[in-house]
Amino acid sequence: MARNKIALIGSGMIGGTLAHMIGLKELGDVVLFDIAEGVPQGKGLDIAESAPVDGFDANFTGANDYSAIEGADVCIVTAGVPRKPGMSRDDLLGTNLKVMEQVGAGIAKYAPNAFVICITNPLDAMVWALQKFSGLPKSHVCGMAGVLDSSRFRHFLADEFDVSVEDVTAFVLGGHGDTMVPLTRYSTVAGIPLPDLVKMGWTTQGKLDEIVQRTRDGGAEIVGLLKTGSAFYAPASSAISMAEAYLKDKKRVLPCAAYLNGEYGVKDMYVGVPTVIGKGGVERVIEIDMNGDEQAQFDKSVESVQGLCDACRNIAPQLG
Ligand code: APR
Repeated sequence: MARNKIALIGSGMIGGTLAHMIGLKELGDVVLFDIAEGVPQGKGLDIAESAPVDGFDANFTGANDYSAIEGADVCIVTAGVPRKPGMSRDDLLGTNLKVMEQVGAGIAKYAPNAFVICITNPLDAMVWALQKFSGLPKSHVCGMAGVLDSSRFRHFLADEFDVSVEDVTAFVLGGHGDTMVPLTRYSTVAGIPLPDLVKMGWTTQGKLDEIVQRTRDGGAEIVGLLKTGSAFYAPASSAISMAEAYLKDKKRVLPCAAYLNGEYGVKDMYVGVPTVIGKGGVERVIEIDMNGDEQAQFDKSVESVQGLCDACRNIAPQLG
C-alpha cells in the first residue's frame, strides 16, 4: 500500500517540528512547502539524514511550488507570521489573511481531497477564511487550537496535583485567544471532576482560577520567554494527534476549531468545540451542556471571533 502523503504548508518552526514528528511516527511521506527558498529543502534533507539513526522510512521533499503537494492526503498549514512579544494573535490578521488566500488557492488546485488542519493565527478567523478561499468541504477543513489549549491546561493541572499527565483530562472551548473557555466542570483527574478535587482538598478554587488564567495566557507566556517567535513543540504535537486521528480513522474525541452551522447557536463560524475526528474528517460536533456562567464565557469568546471574521471581510469582501 502506498504511504500517506502529508503536505506541510509553511516550513518554519512548527512546520519543521511537524516534519520530524511525522518521520518518527512513520505517518507518511512529507512535502515541506515554503516561500523561503532553501528552507524546506534544507529541513527535509536534515530530517531525512536522521532517519537511518532513528530507523524510519519516509521521503522528505522540499518545495517552493504548490505542484509538489499534488494529491496530498493531509495538509497542515502554518504559513504566515508568528507573533512577537507584546503582540496579540489578532495583530497578525492582515498579513496572514493574504497568506491564507494563496494557500487556499494552492490546496484547491493540487490537494482538493485533503484533510486540512490550519494552525496559522489568529486561528479561528484564519481557518474560516482558508475554508472559503479553498472551497474544500467544511468537514475537511479545521483548526488546531483546542488540543493545544487543553494540553497546556492538563500540564498545569498535573503539575499542581503531582499526578501523571496521562490521568488528567481537560476541556477548553471557544476561540483560540484571550477569551478561550477552560471548562473546569468537564476536566478531571482519572474521572474525578476538578470541583470535586477542590472539595477533597487537593487544591483551592483560587489556585484553580490561577491555572485557568495561565492556560489562557499560555501562548503569550512562551512568546515572552522565546522573544523571537511563538510556541512550536506543543502546537506541532497537537496537530499530529489530529492528523493521526484522520489517517487511522481513530474517531478520537478532540477539541478543534470546527465549522458551526447552528450548533451551539453559532452559524457560519469556526469556533473551538469538541469533535470526533475520523476518516470522514470532522465527523461530528459534540454539543455539551453549559451552565449560565460557562455559556456567558463561550458567548463572549464567539463574539470576539465574530469581530475577527468581520475584520477579514473588510479586507477581503469576497469572503461574503
Ligand atoms: N506561503 C508559504 N509560506 C509562507 C508564506 C506564504 N505566503 N508566508 C510566510 N511563509 C512561511 C515563512 O517563510 C516561514 O517559514 O511560513 C513560515 C512560518 O514559520 P515561522 O515564522 O517559524 O512561524 P511558526 O512558529 O512556525 O508559526 C506559524 O502558526 O502558531 C501559529 O502564530 C503562529 O501564525 C503563526 C504560525
